Amino acid sequence: MKIMVIQGPNLNMLGVREQNVYGPMKLEQIHEQMRAFAQQNGVEIEFFQSNLEGELVDKIQECLGDADGIIINPAAYTHTSIAIRDAVAAVAIPTVEVHISNIHAREEFRHKSLIAPVCAGQISGFGPFSYHLAMVAMMQILNEIKAMKEMQKQQQAQQG
Ligand code: DQA
Repeated sequence: MKIMVIQGPNLNMLGVREQNVYGPMKLEQIHEQMRAFAQQNGVEIEFFQSNLEGELVDKIQECLGDADGIIINPAAYTHTSIAIRDAVAAVAIPTVEVHISNIHAREEFRHKSLIAPVCAGQISGFGPFSYHLAMVAMMQILNEIKAMKEMQKQQQAQQG
């Protein structure tokens, strides 16, 4: 099982940018915590950050046949990118959208996510802990898929 974590524009500046909104933690520290949690749960994890919309689309497409789940913080592209939404819909891999800040409590232009409707769910507003919650949600989704596949296998075996 492999989870791909995709980070959008300006998230490479965590720990520097708007600390009053995003806190002092750096992206690398968040990734370390996610890596430890993945290891504890026996899943592979990979990280990708880009400031470019097309590179994010490319990475989502590359997940096809490579990753079982996607955790994505599309950052500002959350509110604008039909291309990222279409890519998530195209690969049809279970995806959890994450935000550090509570986008619904901020400026009105942040209230709408173009990506959330094609995701399994959205986690927003828990600081860096949002990523941990996204990992927990993703593990639940992957376990459910695994259980479903095993049930289908058993049913097929019983049918002959
Ligand atoms: C963000 C929220 C977005 O509105 C913003 O553009 C970001 C970060 C968050 O994690 O809270 O860059 O996605």
